[in-house]
Amino acid sequence: MRGSAFASVLRSTAHSSLRRSPPIPNAVVLIQWYALCASLNIEVSASHALHCITMLTTTQILLMNRRKALQLTTLGTSAMLCNPFSFLWASNPKPFPKGSTFSLPEFTSSDFGDDFKWGVATAAYQIEGAWNVDGKGPSIWDTFSHTKGKIKTGETGDTACDFYNKYASDIALIKAMNFKVFRFSLSWSRIMPTGEGEINPKGVDFYHKVIDECIAQDIEPWITLYHWDLPQALQDQGGWANRKILDWFNNYVEFCTKAYGDKVKNWMVLNEPAAFGALGYLSGMHAPGIRSPKKFFKATHHICMCQAEGGRIIRKNVPDANIGSTFSCSHVDPINDSPKHKKAVSHIDALLNRLYLEPVLGLGYPVDGFKWFKNIYKYVQEGDEEKLQFDFDFIGLQNYSRSVAKRMRLLPIAQAWQVPPQKRGIPPEEITAMGWEVYPEGIYKMLKYFDKYEGIDKIIVTENGSAFPDVVKDGRVHDEKRQQFFQRYLANVLKAKQEGVNVQGYFLWTLMDNFEWAEGYKTRFGVVHVDFETQERIIKDSGLWFQELLGE
Ligand code: GAL
Repeated sequence: MRGSAFASVLRSTAHSSLRRSPPIPNAVVLIQWYALCASLNIEVSASHALHCITMLTTTQILLMNRRKALQLTTLGTSAMLCNPFSFLWASNPKPFPKGSTFSLPEFTSSDFGDDFKWGVATAAYQIEGAWNVDGKGPSIWDTFSHTKGKIKTGETGDTACDFYNKYASDIALIKAMNFKVFRFSLSWSRIMPTGEGEINPKGVDFYHKVIDECIAQDIEPWITLYHWDLPQALQDQGGWANRKILDWFNNYVEFCTKAYGDKVKNWMVLNEPAAFGALGYLSGMHAPGIRSPKKFFKATHHICMCQAEGGRIIRKNVPDANIGSTFSCSHVDPINDSPKHKKAVSHIDALLNRLYLEPVLGLGYPVDGFKWFKNIYKYVQEGDEEKLQFDFDFIGLQNYSRSVAKRMRLLPIAQAWQVPPQKRGIPPEEITAMGWEVYPEGIYKMLKYFDKYEGIDKIIVTENGSAFPDVVKDGRVHDEKRQQFFQRYLANVLKAKQEGVNVQGYFLWTLMDNFEWAEGYKTRFGVVHVDFETQERIIKDSGLWFQELLGE
């Protein structure tokens, strides 16, 4: 009785104060903010979300319009949950007022050995442009980038670097910087506009011209068969989540290896399955923008099956082939020594580093690292497990940064959060334009990590690089930070090599500034600057540094 009288006093006090300063609009603003954060993939911490929900329940559910409060609570919770994996790739740089120092290591290219392969890497959708020219069919990245709100800058890869027309002069730039390898990918929908059946002769011819130009300029062509741009017509039938992809992909690989196998000996089946699997089917941040654990598991299993089968097809069709596939990886540290964060490390490590690599090495899916992965076995059919394995000649290691994991029970599924560098006291000069920490030891640690697997004989660093804001001044780009990044990471590659890791090459990411997926053109990774208005190219200081290093 006394309680209800007290509640009614509270209620009337609240109502009168609400008339003056209503908490609901505040709550609405807060919730909208969370929804916005989630949709922009900006970090939404569980404690903030909890704070939001607590505020609503205490202030509103008890005191006033319960129905409205309940609606808002539901809305707030769904805003947080609608993109449950945004925390895995959170990037939201904030200034941090500390300085940092590091010493620049010295080495020469001959320290790496005479056989060491030096190259630059690119991907079809990021550079080619000509998205609907000469019979090319649309890919999922054409669709995705043309969909409002998917690319941060609202840009598309329609023209990109116009490599479709400028390939010869771009290959000349590779040569000018003294690189010997050009890693590029084939656009499936340029070769097969609908992904199966009908072939587009002009598309096939384009890659012949690129390959011939490389050979003419004494540059070794290294082909990636799939760098994320699935034909849209296949996506319309479910894409990687449809088991039919096993046939679609095999036919595509059969065709390409027969078409180019007499000229090209170095092949990579996939580019970073962890990225296109998880970002495409789980977080939805990349094409095709799906957020479904079920489809993620289906897609993941099919990706792993295609990865191994692709290797077998290359082996069958290309005599003397050097066959690999490329894997993104990041060293994972716990936020502190507390044992509770170990689980977070294990989950993140299993997702970022093990899920797509271990099946091909014959180790199955890494359920020991993350129990949730046992769900994948729902989609594994009889006879599949043996087919997941393939003995690649080399493993492509792709490394940019590290991950620092924190156990957060409130976060769905992984119950782990990748703490962004600006929340860990990393100074701004050690954070790239992508919001990634510059962590040179990470590449050394990952080389050692990969080297421990019995099934890995040879490693090539098939991507490593950084984005920093560049300024063109008097026809030059003094990108000191990017150059130092390369120097520091390369010193760690050398260290691993000198300690016995069989790393036989280094391909930087990337030849020239290009369409950086969901980020658009703002984040520049190239050693060649591109003016996207005029398509003019300038070799940056980092490119000149390589020219000198490799020219020795
Ligand atoms: C890799 C990807 C590249 C490039 C790079 C920089 O994951 O393979 O296409 O975008 O990241 O973000």
